[in-house]
Amino acid sequence: MTHIHITAWVIGIVLFFVTYSMLKSGSRKAKMLHMLTRLFYLIIILTGGMLVSGVSDWTIYIPKMIVGLIVIAAMEMVLVRQAKGKSTGMMMGLFVLAFLVVLYMGFSLPQGFQFFK
Ligand code: HEM
Repeated sequence: MTHIHITAWVIGIVLFFVTYSMLKSGSRKAKMLHMLTRLFYLIIILTGGMLVSGVSDWTIYIPKMIVGLIVIAAMEMVLVRQAKGKSTGMMMGLFVLAFLVVLYMGFSLPQGFQFFK
């Protein structure tokens, strides 16, 4: 399941950057890609939820889940603000920061890989 979760967020983040650059260049396909990116938000949340559902003490995952949701919220804010032609700098900053924190947390927690332990 960790591999499905990792695959989901890697694809989600690639789609996020593709959608962002399409919105910037005013491509008509941007709307469709934005919908696809949103589908991946759901897959990321569902696979994350499945990872917590199989453990005895899920409370240790609460901070990781919150920061994971912040990453997704920041991605969506960047895309919506870009579509409206508003500035995206702050939200892009939040995205990068929260993404680095969630990578550190995810790779420190007990399941899957533990690069930081
Ligand atoms: C884009 C957002 C997200 C990123 C980049 C991300 C990243 C990661 C990473 C790097 C891991 C470690 C995988 C491993 O050790 O093999 C992980 C595990 C996990 N993620 Fe996420 N995640 C995100 C969103 C979420 C969300 C929204 C939730 C909750 C609903 C969640 C719940 C979990 C859980 C429970 C684990 C298992 C932790 C462990 O013991 O290793 N993640 N995630």
